[in-house]
Amino acid sequence: MKIDILTLFPEMYNGFLNTSIIKSALNKKIVDIKTTNIRDYSLDKHKKVDDTPYGGGSGMVLMCQPIFDAVKSLKKTNSKVILMTPQGIKYNQKIAYNLSKEEHLILVCGHYEGFDERIRSICDMELSIGDYVLTGGELPSMVITDSVVRLLDGVIDEGSHLNDSFNNDRLDYPTYTKPREYEGMKVPDVLLSGDHKKIDDWRREESEKRTSERRPDLMYKYLLIRSTMSGKLSYSEFKGYSTNPKNNAKRTDVISVKRLKITEPALSKIIAKKNVDKKIQQLLVLMMKVLETESTDDDFLVLDEADRLRSLIMNEYAKALGIEYRNSALKKIDYIVKMFNSKRVYSKEEIIEKTGKSR
Ligand code: ADE
Repeated sequence: MKIDILTLFPEMYNGFLNTSIIKSALNKKIVDIKTTNIRDYSLDKHKKVDDTPYGGGSGMVLMCQPIFDAVKSLKKTNSKVILMTPQGIKYNQKIAYNLSKEEHLILVCGHYEGFDERIRSICDMELSIGDYVLTGGELPSMVITDSVVRLLDGVIDEGSHLNDSFNNDRLDYPTYTKPREYEGMKVPDVLLSGDHKKIDDWRREESEKRTSERRPDLMYKYLLIRSTMSGKLSYSEFKGYSTNPKNNAKRTDVISVKRLKITEPALSKIIAKKNVDKKIQQLLVLMMKVLETESTDDDFLVLDEADRLRSLIMNEYAKALGIEYRNSALKKIDYIVKMFNSKRVYSKEEIIEKTGKSR
């Protein structure tokens, strides 16, 4: 694999490229990483690369010409040009894995206040490493390079990234090394048992548990549970932080799925009703919480949620719920909103009276 990095600050990469696993991957010629100074491509006699923004505003904007020319000279048929920007797709392990299958990456680092919008037109992809703004794309390009290079064959121990956090949307299980006991904290017995089947089961369970506790957003929403007795599959909704599979199923018997299409109408109706009831209950709790605060700043949360729920009922759940239940659910929402608005008006009047500024 080849990685070209376009940057105004190639010196930032000295430590990164000359240390540890990246250095060894370069030495083993598994990857070839080159930094190119964008300034080298400037046609300006003072090697200028940025200018003031049209329409005014603060800061300088990276110009098209040096970047266009640099990309043109480096790009081959199989190159993927990637722009580092907080406006890009949020980077994750799956993207790292996909990028590790590419032949040639060109990572373009913006700097200062931004770059000319037209630079986007020569990029195949835009990536952000998170919802925060850095002073430039250099650190993101290192993050991406590091996470991609470690996935290349021969860079780290074969199979060692199979257990990585985020593989299969699960966080890594806990690991221990010598001594067996440290400051009263013991290594779990199962890891000392030598029973590899038990160890694998324990690790899988810990990984599930950890993910559901720390990153419930990574867990799937629905579970299909296979009964150990009949072998039949039954449905269960994943309730957020931990799962309690019915039918005495163990965690290892649980099959996680991302989408579930329910074809049995009676079951769809039960599930839709349950979901809608739960969401109405949540709306009520949200309303109470917001009403507890003196400020009206969060009022929109209740009103937005009510709108969202109405549209969910009218669109996604309409068919499954049936007309009667649908209308009654919509009425409940209207009632909650009415109650919310009346409480707000009431408290406003109260404040006016209290401060003596009423008519
Ligand atoms: N440039 C500045 N901030 C960034 C971010 N969060 N991700 C990618 N590129 C950036």
